[in-house]
This record gives sequence, C-alpha cells and structure tokens, in this order.
Amino acid sequence: MKKAIYAGSFDPVTLGHLDIIERASHLVDVLVVAVLENPNKKSLFTVEERKQHLELVTADLPNVEVASFRGLLADFATEIGATVAIRGLRNAIDFASEYQMYLINRKLNHQLETIFLAADEEHLSLSSTNAKEIAVFGGNIDFMVPEQVRPFVVQKYQEMHSV
Ligand code: PNS
Repeated sequence: MKKAIYAGSFDPVTLGHLDIIERASHLVDVLVVAVLENPNKKSLFTVEERKQHLELVTADLPNVEVASFRGLLADFATEIGATVAIRGLRNAIDFASEYQMYLINRKLNHQLETIFLAADEEHLSLSSTNAKEIAVFGGNIDFMVPEQVRPFVVQKYQEMHSV
C-alpha cells in the first residue's frame, strides 16, 4: 500500500492546497494531510481548527486522512508508514526552497521520496498569507479559500476586530 504525506501549515487551507490534495489522492492509496504544530509560528487558526477545515474540504475524498504532527516531517512519515511526501510548486522561488527541503528530508529519511506537483495556472497567485492579507481588510477571498472554510476566516477577523 502506497501512503503519502502532504504536510503544511494550512492556515487557512487554500484552493491551491485543495487542488494538490485532490490530485495527489489519485496517485496513492492513502494520503495523509498533516498540519504542522509549530509553537514558534503565530497562526490565525489553532491546529484543531485547521484539521477541522481540512476534514470538511476532504470529506468527499475517501482515501484522504487528516492528522497533525510536531517535529520533523521525515520522522512523522516514518511513524505513519508514509514513503512519499507530496509538495506543490507554484514558481521558481518555491522550487528553490522545496528542493532544499527535499534534499534534507532525503538525508533524514532514506525511505522517503518526494513528488512535486505543479500548481494549476489559476492557483499560481494563491497563498494562505495572501488570503489572510485580503481577508483582514474585508476583501473577497472567494478565489482563494474553499467555500466551506471562508466563513471561518471571515468570522475570525470579525472576532479580532470586535475586541
Ligand atoms: O505550508 P508550509 O508552511 O509551506 O509547510 C512547510 C512544512 C510544514 C512542510 C515544513 O516546514 C516542514 O516539513 N516542517 C517540519 C519540520 C521539518 O521537517 N523540517 C526539515 C525540512 S527543512
């Protein structure tokens, strides 16, 4: 059985992430979408909230599981028996950092292969950071964030503005 891991911050999950998840789910038997618990990074959503968002948007993908992890991706892959890491690539800047990450992960875990999926044209400008920057000013994030997750983003900023 071929198990893959697609790790990330997913703060929030974007349509670009979702496209990679859907496409990767067709390539492997099980895809584990794993939220990194990074106490050093300030995030909009808690890890539990991000997992809930991912569960909502992947509910129709039967071979996709949602998890969270601390520490190294290479170690978590071993723990769950994943032999493939999925990464999305939007541009050459992504490639430069992703290639380094690939080399490091390969050194840390010889069993782990990385598969890069090129982002779809319509997702090239998408990032969680851009989505948050637009949402904080009440802009339209319909083209960035999956429909099910948009209300949570809007609500989060409304809560922040009301305190
Ligand atoms: O969504 P992101 O922030 O681009 O995801 C990056 C992520 C979580 C995949 C990456 O930071 C990661 O794997 N972090 C875990 C720590 C680790 O394994 N570091 C070694 C590779 S440099």
